[in-house]
This record gives sequence, structure tokens and C-alpha cells, in this order.
Amino acid sequence: MTPDNFNFLAGLVKARSGIVLTADKGYMLETRLGTMLRREAIASLDALAVRLRAAKAEALTAEMVEALTTNESSFFRDGKPFEHLKKLLPRLAAARPPGQPIRIWSAACSSGQEAYSIAMTAAELGPVLGGRRVEILGTDISKEMLDRAKDGVFTQFEVQRGLPVQMLVKHFRQDGARWRIAPELRAMVRWQSFNLLESPRGLGRFDVVFCRNVLIYFDSPTKSRVIAALAGQVAADGVVYLGGAETVLGLTDRLVPTVGERGVYEPAGLTARTA
Ligand SMILES: C[S@@+](CC[C@H](N)C(=O)[O-])C[C@H]1O[C@@H](n2cnc3c(N)ncnc32)[C@H](O)[C@@H]1O
Repeated sequence: MTPDNFNFLAGLVKARSGIVLTADKGYMLETRLGTMLRREAIASLDALAVRLRAAKAEALTAEMVEALTTNESSFFRDGKPFEHLKKLLPRLAAARPPGQPIRIWSAACSSGQEAYSIAMTAAELGPVLGGRRVEILGTDISKEMLDRAKDGVFTQFEVQRGLPVQMLVKHFRQDGARWRIAPELRAMVRWQSFNLLESPRGLGRFDVVFCRNVLIYFDSPTKSRVIAALAGQVAADGVVYLGGAETVLGLTDRLVPTVGERGVYEPAGLTARTA
């Protein structure tokens, strides 16, 4: 592919999703876009660039962007945030007026393992939450991933990674070679298409935001913008969880790391908390 065409496609992807494709990603474009190119009888990536330059090809552009997202996820990924959440939820439940649900946002939820891990964490707490409803919103830019998340059906490989066997038996039903999330957990989560480059104001306020392993694909100005927007949606006593390789340091002063907790951030201006 010519450098000019690569830059054109990479520019389109960045403008649509924030994802930065560096010049060494030519091979990734070949492998990820191969199926789409064959189906559309487009001979090469250069030909794709020509087609996307020439015509308004909204569906094809969206499909290209979606194919270039990385959707790797797992249940209870990195463990620690869910242990922290287990301590945090009772405190939030006690602090909220009666009848007010606790709202949790899994931003960039991929195929739903993160949101369902949150649902399991809340369900396991049971009476400790005093009957408080926990509402989870899972959002992603990828429609395909949202469909998978909505289905709530996972392979043996997926449930073997990070999900304790007693949780599997308790919260999933076997369905042939696959595992289906229990209806009561499924009912705790709502799914919505949402691009992190857009304003999240319409999604409302959240007590907790998970935005993990997606900022790594963005450049610093985009990270700053997205983190500031997330900070604007989280309750003053709530928290934001980022991925292990992500930080707010040098990007915003609206969130600060929670002392002694990796990957946990809280709105600036509060005195140090422990959970
Ligand atoms: C590596 S997965 C992380 C999934 C989950 N948060 C976790 O940590 O396991 C990254 C997800 O971010 C999504 N994504 C990428 N760019 C996005 C954007 N601009 N807006 C919303 N989601 C985006 C991708 O579709 C993908 O599902």
C-alpha cells in the first residue's frame, strides 16, 4: 500500500474511533480487512483507499473501523478492580438515598465479560447491598461485540479464563458446548452503541465507570479528552477504573489515583479514601 493511502485510511480510523494506527500496522490492515475486501471484490488496500476517497461509503467505513478494533477481554480481568468494587459497593449503597439504584458504566465493554463480571460481583454481595438495585450499562463502538454481549453466550475457552468454577456453575447454564449467562444477571445490564469520542452527557451520571484497555489505542490529546469526559459523568464519591497499562497522570487533573490502589481513580477534590 502506498504511504499516502495508508495515511488516508489511518486518518479515517483515527477520526472515527480515536484508534491510532502506526506505519508498522500495514500487516494488521491486510489480515483484519481481508474478508471485507474479498466480499466487496476490492482488490487491495490501495483500491479500498481509492473507493473510500471517491464515494461516500458510510457503511464500508464503519465496517473498516469496527474490524480494526481489538476486542480482547476476559471475565474478572486483572482481578483487583473487582475486589475493589466488592468493597466499594456497600459503601455506595449506604450513601445513596433509598430507592436510588447504583449505576455502573462499562465503557468499551467488548463482548460483555467486564459488565457480567460487575453483575456477578454485585449479585454475590446479595443482602449486603440491602436490596439496592445495581444497573449496569455496557457500551462499545463495535456493533458485533454488542450483539455478542447481548447474547450472553460464551465459549468454554472464554469461561475458563478468569472465571472461578463456582461462579460458572452458579451464574451460567450450559448450552451445548457453550455457556449462557443466567437471565437475572443479563437483566442487570443494558447495552448501547456508544463512541467514546462523543459526549457521554446523554448517558447520565454514574457511581462507577470502568474504562479499561481502550485508552491505550488513543493518542494523548484523545486520552485527555475522553478521561475528562468520563470524570464529568462520575459521582463525587464514585470511582473510575482504568486498565493496568493506563493512567491519568499528565492527562487530566479531574481524576486522581486512589492511594494504594492500582488502576483506581477518583474525582479530584476529595480527601483520600480507602475503598
Ligand atoms: C481491548 S477491548 C477492552 C474490553 C474490556 N474493557 C476489558 O478491559 O476487558 C477494547 C474495546 O474498546 C472498543 N473501542 C475502541 N475504540 C472505541 C471508541 N472510540 N469508542 C468506544 N469503544 C471503543 C473496542 O471495540 C473494544 O471492544
